[in-house]
Amino acid sequence: MNPVLSRRRLLMSGSLFAGAAAVQGLTGGSLSLVNSAMAEITAPLSPIRMSSNENPWGPSRLAISAMEAAFDKSNLYGGIANQIFALQASIEGVPPDCITLSAGSGEILQAAAVLAAWEPGSIVAPYPTFGQLIRTAESLGTEIINVPVNKDMHIDLNAMYEAIRPDTRMVYLCNPNNPIPSIIEKKALEDFVRTVSRDRLVFVDEAYYEYVDNPDFSSMMPLVAEGLNNVIIARTASKIHGFAGLRVGFGFANPELIGRLNQVMTGSVNILAQYGAYASYQDREFQDFSRDMNKKGLAIIEGMCDELGMNYIKSNANFTFIETGIEIQEFQRTMREHNILVGRPFEPFTRWARVSIAKPDEMAYFVQTYQKLYS
Ligand SMILES: Cc1ncc(COP(=O)(O)O)c(C=O)c1O
Repeated sequence: MNPVLSRRRLLMSGSLFAGAAAVQGLTGGSLSLVNSAMAEITAPLSPIRMSSNENPWGPSRLAISAMEAAFDKSNLYGGIANQIFALQASIEGVPPDCITLSAGSGEILQAAAVLAAWEPGSIVAPYPTFGQLIRTAESLGTEIINVPVNKDMHIDLNAMYEAIRPDTRMVYLCNPNNPIPSIIEKKALEDFVRTVSRDRLVFVDEAYYEYVDNPDFSSMMPLVAEGLNNVIIARTASKIHGFAGLRVGFGFANPELIGRLNQVMTGSVNILAQYGAYASYQDREFQDFSRDMNKKGLAIIEGMCDELGMNYIKSNANFTFIETGIEIQEFQRTMREHNILVGRPFEPFTRWARVSIAKPDEMAYFVQTYQKLYS
């Protein structure tokens, strides 16, 4: 596909706005939307989703074509899991038998929670963080030891280490974290994972890993490649690949642990999503495009925060966390009145908002709305 044409087509398609002025401004390269002399951006025709950390551009055209072509295989069981494993193995540098396919990475999170709950015990997790594994484990009777983030709102590895008890079955880490899009420094994390995984499971949730552009970050995938026991890494096609509704995720671990995860997994990935994922993971252009657009969208909202002197956590993902100073339920309601959906409450930071990065013109509308209401 011609990169220029495909980018233009993607950019010009699917805008929620009645007028295309903002989109044209952006394709012309203008990012200084906040103070630009551009005409007021008209209200969107339907709500802008800045609430669930989805990719507003996906899935890629190649993934959609692959799924369309796979429709007439819908009567068949199975799919192309082995091809997908071979592709992932070549991308990640791990053996194919260190990989499992799941209905979204949420399924891996829940399967791991089941493994951890096999015997009575506890899980150590940062607070706040993504709740799916924690909620599942808690419902199965596992005690959750919440370790608050530090004063910079970063995951506090030392405190997590201190919190581990003899009965701790698993430590959950989310890197980058969610709702706070910070990362854990790579050397400290590697030391932590090596040490802690000697005696218990360590789960590293890397749902947002493709968005990270930070020299202090490293995936823990090399530890799986090395054959370390007790380490599970989760990845998802829901974010940069734009597959949230298609439900494709991956677990990476040594083959014995993959076998245990497979035993407790209940979903299976439908054949269309498998063909789509196989195409999407080969579509570097779409991933680069999504990353690039995400950076542009982030620059717009972070630019607003800088201009207004607001606190925010520098993002390593496709969402940001900003201190509005307004109770989140009220902020959500007000934004909804302007056709913008923002993230749910995340205790204890109830006067902060998690804002997912939408298309740049939509981010510009968010900024315009926020400034009108609050500055
Ligand atoms: C950190 C993290 N992990 C996992 C998931 C689960 O996503 P999915 O089940 O769509 O892969 C999410 C979803 O937002 C997330 O934020």
